[in-house]
Amino acid sequence: MSDLQATLTKEPNGSLTVTGYESLKYNFHYTSPVFDVANKKLAEIYEKWGRVLIVIDTIVHPIYQSTIETYFKHYGIPITWKVVAGGELNKTMDTMLEIVDAMDSFGIVRTEPTLVIGGGLVTDVAGYACASYRRTSNFIRIPTTLIGLIDASVSIKVAVNHRKLKNRLGAYHAPLHTFLDFSFLRTLPVGQIRNGFAELIKIASVGDKPVWELLVKHGKELVETGFGHKDGGESVKAPGLEVCHRGIETMLQLESPNLHEIGLDRVIAFGHTWSPTLELTPRIPLRHGHAITIDMAYSITLAHSRGLINDVQRDEWFHLISSVGLSMDHEAFDEQLIEAATEAIKKTRDGKQRFAVPDGEFGKCLFLNDVPLSELKSILKVHKDFVKSRYGSGDGLEAYVDAGDLGADPEKYAAKGQPKDTADSLKRNGIEGVKVKTAAVAAGAVPIDGTGHVVNGMTATRVAA
Ligand SMILES: NC(=O)c1ccc[n+]([C@@H]2O[C@H](COP(=O)([O-])OP(=O)(O)OC[C@H]3O[C@@H](n4cnc5c(N)ncnc54)[C@H](O)[C@@H]3O)[C@@H](O)[C@H]2O)c1
Ligand SMILES: [Zn+2]
Repeated sequence: MSDLQATLTKEPNGSLTVTGYESLKYNFHYTSPVFDVANKKLAEIYEKWGRVLIVIDTIVHPIYQSTIETYFKHYGIPITWKVVAGGELNKTMDTMLEIVDAMDSFGIVRTEPTLVIGGGLVTDVAGYACASYRRTSNFIRIPTTLIGLIDASVSIKVAVNHRKLKNRLGAYHAPLHTFLDFSFLRTLPVGQIRNGFAELIKIASVGDKPVWELLVKHGKELVETGFGHKDGGESVKAPGLEVCHRGIETMLQLESPNLHEIGLDRVIAFGHTWSPTLELTPRIPLRHGHAITIDMAYSITLAHSRGLINDVQRDEWFHLISSVGLSMDHEAFDEQLIEAATEAIKKTRDGKQRFAVPDGEFGKCLFLNDVPLSELKSILKVHKDFVKSRYGSGDGLEAYVDAGDLGADPEKYAAKGQPKDTADSLKRNGIEGVKVKTAAVAAGAVPIDGTGHVVNGMTATRVAA
């Protein structure tokens, strides 16, 4: 929530000037399980209103419906559900307006907070509906994915996609509260945990050494057991929580002074230089986490070749990536892509490269601005040779978007609009080659929103079609 303070000055010539500043306050509560009737905090907020409007997606709703109903029933608070379709293809103005209509029918009072439960997708779309409704209205977020818990719900950005452009319409709109409950990871598929884990590797590599050390020690178990919340994970619950708490704090420390993303040397852009283009290039897009890990892996090779990290550090980094099943290379990650993506990202970084790399040790960050194309190309060869010699193709597990990420069957969607024989002959993980890549890059596909968070699907498949 924000509060505006302003003064009015009348100039001698009669012109009027308003000078104001906005104070912003929003908080994060670690409450687990948030829907345990013993945890009153959330219910207390809604007791005042005697009702609650909940926005949730079609996948999360059936998993948690009865738990949530039991919770609010205990406090005598009736629920009105607004269940929306998830997936990147539904991150649209239409979905946002559907939520606005639900708020209208509910007759929400402007200060009454809509409760938004789900992954980064639903919190982004519903958050934008709340930002727009009556110019601004309140909301409370409960993230249920790892990306949501440690990334999307840490920021105050909300948005929808528009045409080919990711997060093109949006706002900076802080919720009243965010409840962080890691026990939701119990039901989150491991492929999604791995996807979010990549963002933790990012933060740790260039922003938080203790987190890096915890990831090295427990990474594989953390991913496989949903940070200790799935069966057999009890022993990593505590380090898992520490990793997440520290990761969130580091994100807030790094980004809170830059809420409106004016500063361009951003530590959290590690892994987000070439990945926006790469993520979109395969016929079926890569999951965001895999694309950023390939980008980070290449950056690590670059940092190593420049003497910023030594052999032991490089090997430790790659070992962790391999042990958790994240990708470190891709056939589409080639010289042409590097060149095009470097040009594309420079446009969003004021003409500079601003390549984030670890500086001497993990947890420290350096921005490189002097890397010639010839060096980028020679490093790419070094990178590919290194990956091949140690890890084969460098492919990760479950690296491509699925129907949950996309909101449609990726195979059918990617094939739509392509000549039947071509569509049939394309391999699941193949790429269409130069044509798609050039088109993806030219289409500005690469629709970068400052965070480097780009599509999980939409643009690439449209460009490919
Ligand atoms: N606002 C920001 O700063 C910011 C930051 C990062 C990402 N994002 C946005 O977040 C979106 C991606 O978020 P995401 O990765 O959370 O994806 P998502 O919200 O699409 O969730 C991924 C899948 O997991 C399912 N799911 C969610 N919680 C579950 C649970 N507990 N158990 C079982 N299934 C569950 C969802 O239904 C979906 O199918 C993108 O649109 C991205 O742009 C925003
Ligand atoms: Zn990211």
